[in-house]
Amino acid sequence: ATPAFIADLIGRMTIEEKAGQLTLMAAALGGAAASALNPVTTTPSVEQQIAEARAGRLTGVFNGRGSDYARRLQDAAMQSRLKIPLIVAADIIHGHRTVFPVPLGEAASFDPDLAERTARVAAVEASAAGIDWTFAPMVDIARDARWGRGVEGAGEDTYLGNLFAAARVKGFQGDDLTSDTSVMACAKHFAAYGAAESGLDYNPVDISERTLEQTYFPPFKAALEAGCGTVMASFNEINGVPAHANHWLLTEVLRKAWNFGGVVVSDYTGDMELIDAGYATDPRDATMKAFLAGVDMSMQSHFYMDHLPDLVARGEVPIALVDASVRRVLDLKARLGLFDNPYRRIQPGREEQRVRTPEHLKVAREAAQRSIVLLKNEGELLPLPKAGKRIALIGPFARGQHDLVGPWNVYGDDKQAVDLETGIRAAMGQRGALTVTDGSGVDEPLPGGIDAAVAAANAADVVVLAIGESTNMSGEAQSRTSITVPDAQQALAEAVAATGKPVVVLLKNGRALALEGAVRDAAAIVVTWFLGSESGPATADMLFGDALPSARLPVSFPQASGQAPYHYDHKPTGRPNPAGKPPEPYKAHFRGILNKALYPFGHGLTYSTLGYGPVDAGAGTLAWDGTLVVSTTVSNTGKRAAEEVVQLYIHDRTASITRPVRELKGFQKVTLKPGERRTISFTLTRSDLMFVGPKMQWIAEPGDFDVWIAPSAEAGEPARVTLAR
Ligand code: IFM
Repeated sequence: ATPAFIADLIGRMTIEEKAGQLTLMAAALGGAAASALNPVTTTPSVEQQIAEARAGRLTGVFNGRGSDYARRLQDAAMQSRLKIPLIVAADIIHGHRTVFPVPLGEAASFDPDLAERTARVAAVEASAAGIDWTFAPMVDIARDARWGRGVEGAGEDTYLGNLFAAARVKGFQGDDLTSDTSVMACAKHFAAYGAAESGLDYNPVDISERTLEQTYFPPFKAALEAGCGTVMASFNEINGVPAHANHWLLTEVLRKAWNFGGVVVSDYTGDMELIDAGYATDPRDATMKAFLAGVDMSMQSHFYMDHLPDLVARGEVPIALVDASVRRVLDLKARLGLFDNPYRRIQPGREEQRVRTPEHLKVAREAAQRSIVLLKNEGELLPLPKAGKRIALIGPFARGQHDLVGPWNVYGDDKQAVDLETGIRAAMGQRGALTVTDGSGVDEPLPGGIDAAVAAANAADVVVLAIGESTNMSGEAQSRTSITVPDAQQALAEAVAATGKPVVVLLKNGRALALEGAVRDAAAIVVTWFLGSESGPATADMLFGDALPSARLPVSFPQASGQAPYHYDHKPTGRPNPAGKPPEPYKAHFRGILNKALYPFGHGLTYSTLGYGPVDAGAGTLAWDGTLVVSTTVSNTGKRAAEEVVQLYIHDRTASITRPVRELKGFQKVTLKPGERRTISFTLTRSDLMFVGPKMQWIAEPGDFDVWIAPSAEAGEPARVTLAR
């Protein structure tokens, strides 16, 4: 479909057909998870939806079930007057039927190539089920752990977020968008959705333009630079204007400043919500405001279909703008090869051949292994021996096919995922001694649960305690006021700890948690997120040392819930309490806790020990247009191989706009044999030292910088570097 073909098509379309191309609806036959998670505002029957497609009043559907249903709709579209193909969309967030770790967990791998590979597998599976377009990746920076949707993104850091945004787009879209194994990506939610006031999902955002530009926009730019052809508007307002009606955001920034030529889709009823947000009087007004602001396609409200024709007829919306939006939508369909073959991704039988293949499950196991973060390992309690020690596996997540796939997965099925008990038993084999008991419910105590758990602990040599959050505690609309392990499970942990047996805590979580009491004090603590299809085997691999922990926290674990929002790259204050030192009078600190994270961004242990030498910054001067190599030596001082994430941070000591206490500027994942010592170097240029200056432009300023090469955002000693003009 050439531009001339599309222009000709637009020339022949009625205004109703144009509005139809801008109207996306949830599939009448939806995946179970989709209907449970999204409030259904309109529930057309399959027949009604087919009739709409035949009448040219529907651009596509999302979160439908199976390619047969997609085929029926496409058949109807092919019978429409202009035979414009339908587009089939879905939320493919962390896998399709083969499920990978939740995106936050996968970001812990600090391995964007892995994310590209899992997105590729997800695209291969989803496209085999008739899906052309995924509403992913979510590239929202999330610095407030109370906000439940942080689980869908890459965490609190912009640099890491950029890499994962680009990698996921490349994985979804592949080398050729017309291929029947590629799906179009969608960077969402534009913008600053993760900055919701008090971490409450959907809440307003009041934010400086500088913070948007420096922290929240870059992952969107990275996604677009990687070729992402669509963007979804966010539910929140920004500084008084809802994103869905924000002309500055969608048109001046996205379209004009960034030159984005793709499609902006609303979020689910996002245009309708302008009314409750107090920005539009009625559906017609909401349609006009969303459309004129820059939302091309309306999801689920049906507002564009209902009101755009009249708004155009009365001259309130210029037809040229409607044509421009329609052109972008038709371009999207053309890029996906749908005009050439509307059935490209709808082939009977293909889905079953391409999903959950042994190769895909292998990637799922590897991704899960590489997402597990070892926070603490006192006395080298881990790895455990497979035999010779009696293990008590305790906790609501110890067994059973639940809470494995994790939040926001439309097509994954816990019943097809492998649980912890199964994974551990398979690894231990016949010789292992394992007892399993629940001990507690997720939120409620289990009658007799603690007694059984204590008995099991007493009869064991070591306890593996599988506790944390259930699937429905993170994800959309799942904000928490207290980001702790639920009380009933905390009580279980206290009782088990009182037995005196060594405890390995396996945390299941969709966000950073504030660990307390016996959970915090356990000898070993492991973050296992929601690991997907291969949860149990991958966790067992790590527990027994068949896979070595190599992941790092993409979000800081605070000392206490009340520190939220806590992120490592916070600004200094004029009265800093020295980090990690007891509170000093009239210095910035919360009463009763240390002024630092419990486990900072970037933290994660291996099964070995590592030593870092001092940072060598050479002469210490970076010429304005020059480069400066900074390096350190990293040694594996332990007995096992280790995959270490060596991290580069900077801090601008004095600037015309105050700068964060640290900022990640690079990292390298290196494998070191026992006893191996290696020099790790990074090359700094002026662009690493840039920020948004007083005139709202990216600038660098001459002056002094601290530079760390360290194992986490709160470790190491800096070297001094001077940027000289
Ligand atoms: O893609 C999602 C979005 O992230 C949240 N609201 C619903 C959309 C479609 O399912």
